[in-house]
Amino acid sequence: MRGRFISLEGPEGCGKSTQAGLLATHLRERGQTVVMTREPGGTPTGEMIRDILQHHASGEDISPEAEVLLFAASRAQHVARVIRPALERGDWVICDRFVDSSLAYQGVARGMGLETVLAANEVALGGLWPDVTLWFDLPVDVALSRVAARGADADRFESEARAFHQKVAEGYRELAKRFPERILRVEASGEIDAIAECVSAHLDCFSEVS
Ligand code: TYD
Repeated sequence: MRGRFISLEGPEGCGKSTQAGLLATHLRERGQTVVMTREPGGTPTGEMIRDILQHHASGEDISPEAEVLLFAASRAQHVARVIRPALERGDWVICDRFVDSSLAYQGVARGMGLETVLAANEVALGGLWPDVTLWFDLPVDVALSRVAARGADADRFESEARAFHQKVAEGYRELAKRFPERILRVEASGEIDAIAECVSAHLDCFSEVS
C-alpha cells in the first residue's frame, strides 16, 4: 500500500518543525516507517539550492521568476528522489513546507499569482500532492516576535517587511479556502501539547493512526 504524504505549512516561527518531530514520534509508535524531510532542501541538490535562495549566495538580486523556479527545481529533485520513492515503499512522509509555501510566498506575497506558481510547479509535482496539509495559523505579530526572539541572523525571507508576512498569512487563508479538503487549520498560538493534540485529531482521517 502506498504511504501517506503530510505537509506542514505556516509562517516563520509557527512551531511546525517542533510539531513535525512530535508527529513523527506519534506515527512511529503506531508502527509506521516515517521519512521526515523539508523544503527547500531534502536532497543534496535541494540543499545547495536552499543556500542560493536563503543566503544570497551569488550576491545578486534574484528575480521573482527565478525564485519560483529555483524552489520548483528543488521540489522536482525532492519528489523524484525522496518523496515518491518513500511513498511507493509504503513509508509515511512528513514534509516541512511543500508547494503551498510557493503558492503563499511567491504566488501571493511576491504577487506572481497562484496560477503562475501552479504552472511553474506542474513538472516538479508530476501530479503528486500531499494527502493532508497541516496549516499552522498564527497572528503575524506573534510569529514575527518569535522569530526575533530566536536572535539568529535573519535569512532573506525572515528579513522581509511586516507587509510581506501579512500577505503570506493572507495567502495561506486563501489556499485553505481553495483546497478545503486537503488543508486543515491548526491553531498554533497555544501550548505545544495542545497543538499536538489538534494535529492528532486531524489525522484521525487515517484509520492507521487513530
Ligand atoms: P526555513 O528556514 O526552512 O524556514 P521555516 O523554519 O520557517 O520553515 O526557510 C524557508 C524559507 O523559504 C521560508 O521563509 C519560506 C520560504 N519558502 C518560499 O518562499 N517558497 C517555498 O516554496 C518554500 C518551500 C519556502
